[in-house]
Amino acid sequence: MKITIVGTGYVGLVTGACLADVGVQVTCIDIDKNKIEGLLNGIIPIYEPGLETIVKRNVEAGRLHFSTKLSENLDDVKAVFIAVGTPPGEDGSADLQYVKNVAREVGQSMNGYLVVVTKSTVPVGTSIMVRDTIQEELDKRNAEIEFDVASNPEFLKEGAAIEDFMKPDRVVIGTDSQRAREVLESIYKPFQLNGYRIIHMDIISAELTKYAANSMLATRISFMNEIANLCELVGADINYVRAGLGSDPRIGKKFLYSGVGYGGSCFPKDVKALVRTGKSLGYELKILEAVEQVNNLQKEVLAYKIKDYFKDDKKKTIAIWGLSFKPNTDDMREAPSIEIINQLVEAGFTVKVFDPVAMEEAKHIIGDKVIWCETSFETVKDADAIALVTEWNEFKFPEWDRIKGLMKTHVVFDGRNIYERERLEEKGFTYFGIGR
Ligand SMILES: NC(=O)c1ccc[n+]([C@@H]2O[C@H](COP(=O)([O-])OP(=O)(O)OC[C@H]3O[C@@H](n4cnc5c(N)ncnc54)[C@H](O)[C@@H]3O)[C@@H](O)[C@H]2O)c1
Repeated sequence: MKITIVGTGYVGLVTGACLADVGVQVTCIDIDKNKIEGLLNGIIPIYEPGLETIVKRNVEAGRLHFSTKLSENLDDVKAVFIAVGTPPGEDGSADLQYVKNVAREVGQSMNGYLVVVTKSTVPVGTSIMVRDTIQEELDKRNAEIEFDVASNPEFLKEGAAIEDFMKPDRVVIGTDSQRAREVLESIYKPFQLNGYRIIHMDIISAELTKYAANSMLATRISFMNEIANLCELVGADINYVRAGLGSDPRIGKKFLYSGVGYGGSCFPKDVKALVRTGKSLGYELKILEAVEQVNNLQKEVLAYKIKDYFKDDKKKTIAIWGLSFKPNTDDMREAPSIEIINQLVEAGFTVKVFDPVAMEEAKHIIGDKVIWCETSFETVKDADAIALVTEWNEFKFPEWDRIKGLMKTHVVFDGRNIYERERLEEKGFTYFGIGR
């Protein structure tokens, strides 16, 4: 079985590596020459636990290949997976230019039956656009070649992508073609052993399922952030409220954490895009509009608390712990740290930052308005407060006594509610959490 994956980012590279690992012959294509050159030299462009080992293993076994040329990698393949980016356009709707370019190229170069599978998160109707675009190109060539389209949205989480792909909760396959269905079932067959579930549906429902899933998760986060803000006003502790809420099996324990707002490459853009889809059809998705508004405000909460605490004395130094939008990734897209840092710098604070993995990525975005440190200890030297933004493991059990000795004043703003107030207060720190 041979397949080609177009777009070698988080989704494309993880998909390619994992499918190669179960025996599929995979070629990953990208238009970014540097990325492909790096991969050909064993350089993994993203930080994702376990990815490097699995890529190396499959390159060495001759099952995983990299190229910039899609047109040279369409012969004898059973399926082409489109995994290019779908960033938000100016009006918030998904920008489909990259998906369309791939469809065009497939139509221009394919020579035999193919299933063209959309793995990127795309608005309802995109797979039909892909089908029409390919057909247009075939018509231009007077080529009578059969093909099918399918939607196979990806649900992996950055930071746990390999585990998610290898042991998925579900694999959603949307297609109206029996032939495409069989091809996709055979590709995913090895994962049967892991007890996964394929859910078959029509294309439009598959496309919508992905947006609905991300929007639901974003809704839980914004909901909990609102309850956390209310906790502060009434004097409750969100950690207790969460424990009480999450123990109800109808609600469940996951994704009930309040914090500094959601970020990353998916939730912000997917919520926006779904709102946009509704609008284009004359339907207002009121809950999701509120989810986005709450999130935008929540990204300001930690900086607001810091500014409020130090009142007019903004000549203080703040140590920021964690920059990536969540732990175990170097992804900085829409990371709340960016907004927090901007606000603190604008208010006149000196900001020292450290992240275990995302420093290089963050430097491109944040630039020289902060002091870049090599360790968490370096950030706290002569600092007045610590702001925990990303809950990396290495920040979970800090050496508070050593840290206290290095700091000027001793305040902790815990943006992820990972520390115990009592313990910190015993050690002489002033503690602020979110909703506690
Ligand atoms: N990152 C995630 O956690 C995640 C999870 C599920 C779904 N998704 C969705 O998957 C899609 C891809 O996301 P990502 O995070 O992997 O994106 P990414 O930005 O990491 O990677 C996209 C890649 O596509 C390449 N590309 C663009 N046009 C191309 C073309 N014509 N030919 C070949 N390559 C091309 C880019 O150079 C880039 O390397 C998006 O729609 C996203 O919403 C992402």
